[in-house]
Amino acid sequence: MSNSQVKFYSGENIPLELHKTRIVQKLHLVPIERRLEALEEAGYNTFGLNTTDVFLDMLTDSGTNAMSDNQLAAMMQSDDAYAGSQSFMRLHKAVQDVLGMKYFLPTHQGRAAENILACAYVRKGSLVPMNYHFTTALAHITEKGGQIVELLYPEAYKLTSTHPFKGNMNLEALEAYIQKHGKQNIPYIRVEASTNLIGGQPFSIENYRGVRAIADKYGIRIVLDASLLGENAYLVKEREEEFKNTPLSEIIKIMAGLADLIYFSARKLSSSRGGGICTNNETIYKELEALVPLYEGFLTYGGISIREIEAMAVGLYETQDETVISQSPAFIAYLVNEAEKKGIPMVTPAGVLGGHINAMSFCPHVPQTQYPAGALATAYFLVSGVRGMERGSISNQRDEYGNETYADMELLRLAVPRRVFTLSQIMYAIDRLAWLYDNRDLIGGLKFVYEPPVLRFFMGRLAPTSDWPQKLMAKFHEDFGDSL
Ligand code: F0G
Repeated sequence: MSNSQVKFYSGENIPLELHKTRIVQKLHLVPIERRLEALEEAGYNTFGLNTTDVFLDMLTDSGTNAMSDNQLAAMMQSDDAYAGSQSFMRLHKAVQDVLGMKYFLPTHQGRAAENILACAYVRKGSLVPMNYHFTTALAHITEKGGQIVELLYPEAYKLTSTHPFKGNMNLEALEAYIQKHGKQNIPYIRVEASTNLIGGQPFSIENYRGVRAIADKYGIRIVLDASLLGENAYLVKEREEEFKNTPLSEIIKIMAGLADLIYFSARKLSSSRGGGICTNNETIYKELEALVPLYEGFLTYGGISIREIEAMAVGLYETQDETVISQSPAFIAYLVNEAEKKGIPMVTPAGVLGGHINAMSFCPHVPQTQYPAGALATAYFLVSGVRGMERGSISNQRDEYGNETYADMELLRLAVPRRVFTLSQIMYAIDRLAWLYDNRDLIGGLKFVYEPPVLRFFMGRLAPTSDWPQKLMAKFHEDFGDSL
């Protein structure tokens, strides 16, 4: 069962919660004056905020999905052993059952798997084609002297679209790229399920089969980033004719089976923490095995707490459950469609992970040099207490010569972790966004005051280019009085 199978008599498209809440956590909606202070303290970077100042934490779904009763129960039976833990055996079996992969190497999270792949396969001059980069994947590849190339169809860059699979890899461009640069320089092709940075957009299995055919033709391996595989598989079921009657568990296996090597962030894939690498290829396993004890921990825990290993095993099985996996896309579709009705420039079609707002259309008067997506993220937090994440030029890295590289898209991402928020909370998020849109002229730019050399978006500190936050706060008071 999934939400999309339940129709309302009223005809309204309302996402229905298919679970009940049994443990809750208090939230903090603090006055706007405190929110402004908190922004000052955070260096106008939402990563710097503490949750004591955050009402709805829509920063990410990473490690923040609600866990199930069965996951929590499983954590209690963890078998704490450095080597040969039964908990690891249960996880290994889950990887085999859910992803159909024989060999499994645990890592402490997704980027740790990226580090291991980069250590094993990326050298100076290596070229890694992909549908689109993810921040940490790119950083690990470039740190080893490699380069990436993004091969999407032009439709992917259209922020307003009805294309169901904007994450599809551009097959013609992929083949041309391999022919031009030679397969010997390409250690692997990376395909990312539910392409995160272009708005959580999936690829189709039809397209993915095309990538497989090219990879086979040239003898290049495919690496699947499966962090958001469950949701990509769910959208395949919803949007790809061939699979509309295929069980989610089957679609996941088909997608996994097309890759030579899979890695994932368990913080997303299985609503737990941790990560891993899996494969059916013994050679690949042997190439990577020794790096896990070196960087992560022994092969049967890989730097993950044993409790989380138990949660991960159960979470992997739950990835096959449509009542779990349909939740986040259904709430995101509601967020995106309702916001769009109010004229707010959303990335469409609605994808996974969260709703994405096109900051360059929202505040076109803020030039890219002043980070419109970062500015929108801080303005939105100020007027709502909702914490989103900048996914634009601040999240980009400088090129090898130290020049600023502007992002293809300036997005504010409002993550909708699985089974965390209620419908009225999502309605609140839309309401404050609509108010901000009507007052968008008051949003100004940001500038860096401290810019770390690597993954600058995490720890960077910024400042507003004028006193626009104060002016926005004054307008908030005018319209909302002393409302929080
Ligand atoms: N790959 C993808 C597609 C991701 O979305 C992430 C993390 C990673 C790899 C890295 O995994 O965080 O466990 O090390 N995405 C988070 C996000 C951080 O907020 O989108 P990690």
